[in-house]
Amino acid sequence: MKKLIFLLSILFLIQCKKEKQPIKGVITDKAMVVCARQEASQIGINIMKKGGNAFDAMIATDLALAVSYPFAGNIGGGGFLVYRTKDGEVGALDYREKAPLAATRNMYVDEKGNVIENKSTLGTNAIGVPGTIAGLFKVHEKFGTIPFKELIQPAIDLAKKGVLVTKKQASSLKKYKKNFQKANKRIIFLDKVWNENDTIKYLKLAETLERIRDNGRDEFYKGKTADILVSYLQDLGGIITKEDLVKYQAKWRKPIVFNYKDAKIISMSPPSSGGICIAQILKSIEPYNISKYKHNSEKYVQLITEAARRAYADRSHFLGDNDFVHINIDSLISSEYLDQRMQSFSFNKANNSDEIGHGILGLKESNETTHYSIIDQFGNAVAVTTTLNSAYGSKVYVKEGGFFLNNEMDDFSIKPGFANSYGLVGAEANKIEPEKRMLSSMSPTIVEQNGKLKMVLGSPGGSTIITSVMQNILNVLEYNMGMQEAVSKPRFHHQWLPDNIKFEPSFDKTIFPKLEKIGYTIDQSNAPVIGKVDAILVLPNGKLEGGADPRGDDKAIGF
Ligand code: DON
Repeated sequence: MKKLIFLLSILFLIQCKKEKQPIKGVITDKAMVVCARQEASQIGINIMKKGGNAFDAMIATDLALAVSYPFAGNIGGGGFLVYRTKDGEVGALDYREKAPLAATRNMYVDEKGNVIENKSTLGTNAIGVPGTIAGLFKVHEKFGTIPFKELIQPAIDLAKKGVLVTKKQASSLKKYKKNFQKANKRIIFLDKVWNENDTIKYLKLAETLERIRDNGRDEFYKGKTADILVSYLQDLGGIITKEDLVKYQAKWRKPIVFNYKDAKIISMSPPSSGGICIAQILKSIEPYNISKYKHNSEKYVQLITEAARRAYADRSHFLGDNDFVHINIDSLISSEYLDQRMQSFSFNKANNSDEIGHGILGLKESNETTHYSIIDQFGNAVAVTTTLNSAYGSKVYVKEGGFFLNNEMDDFSIKPGFANSYGLVGAEANKIEPEKRMLSSMSPTIVEQNGKLKMVLGSPGGSTIITSVMQNILNVLEYNMGMQEAVSKPRFHHQWLPDNIKFEPSFDKTIFPKLEKIGYTIDQSNAPVIGKVDAILVLPNGKLEGGADPRGDDKAIGF
């Protein structure tokens, strides 16, 4: 009997040990790409193997995603890059879409002032002037070491060879079939029912990429591709003109940089709200010793929820394209202001979004997306989030050009107080104006610790990008998780309005009654997944650990 008990105890201990083993990601010595498709990660890695840097790899990976991941990878959308060079220099590039010249403040409301259903999300009217190609050439001009022709060629080859349909992609193509039909006449995705393991060849896209290879950036904005795009849109009743394309420029921006305890965080500045909101949330919770609360426990969720509630309320009121509106960034992310915002917080009772509006700033003046992370063998780091906005954007597919166009216009506040597809409400600061960039939540982010590169991360997920990125930063910095473990953990989200906390289905439900008791509303119906984080962690021994989000087909590859 004693023997049996002894044996059972040993078995029990072995089992416990097994369960406690944290999930480990791919670990490599020098360089890594983590992105939404294996083919694109491999193409990025091949570029670095032949001596290219992280910026060269970015261009190749981005174009490969445009081919292999039409869900969000694109040449008809836009994005943001945050970088940190091997020498510690940081910067950001904004290649966000812009409102067309003919856009007007009320273009999505009828004479009675009601929002016209789907106009800002589906079809030609939803499209912002695309920035991706301008962005990639801008990066190349400053940091590229390999000729652009060589960086675009793997994407061309992939488009011709064709891309295998994954199970997730097959189901998403089925799901959006009706909307493809509404937005287009005939396109490749309607030719047949695409099933898992079919191969789709993107021959028209290959031709477009070849023209860009041969003629450079202007091919997209002034050349044959521009003509194809504009005439297709005008046929369908769109408002984008050649002049819109000619005028488009990607812009270098100063990223948002702030300290959280002993870490320095570098994230995207306006026209994204990402960096400011992450800074607001982290700096609001900084005075609390958060690691003493169990991870994802009731107190942890409550504290972050209350910080997020306040940050999203500020987002809605203060933030927009800062080429058009003045944003007092220093005040918004100052500890002084945020401590005062958190004064009404108590662990005993939920706050209420009707009572918590935006803050009052002092007079002190200074005034369906995809993310990939790359670190190269030299120590340069690149975080890029790029998007068409919704899955396949406006669903408008430029047939002769072989690519989807975004529906980024829906990120504007199309009517004060009206919730966009992510439930976000906005105001004056984010109203539509010709040539203005719509406010984003995309948050490509880099973390430094002790002056050294620590982590590169980001996520898709609309408004949930901010909270997804922030939770992964805390998972690593406060809870010492590895990258894959951090990325795999269940997530939650609060965004001021609607006033509820969304939880992924795998979240520990035992905390719900406790939260409900003190006044929180739980929403588990709407969030099968929150974010899809692709990240890289520099381990203490200098090796790299990838975190490829299991919520998608994402893949870390390195050497
Ligand atoms: O810029 C933004 O915030 C949105 N257009 C991002 C869209 C997105 O993340 C879609 N992914 N699920």
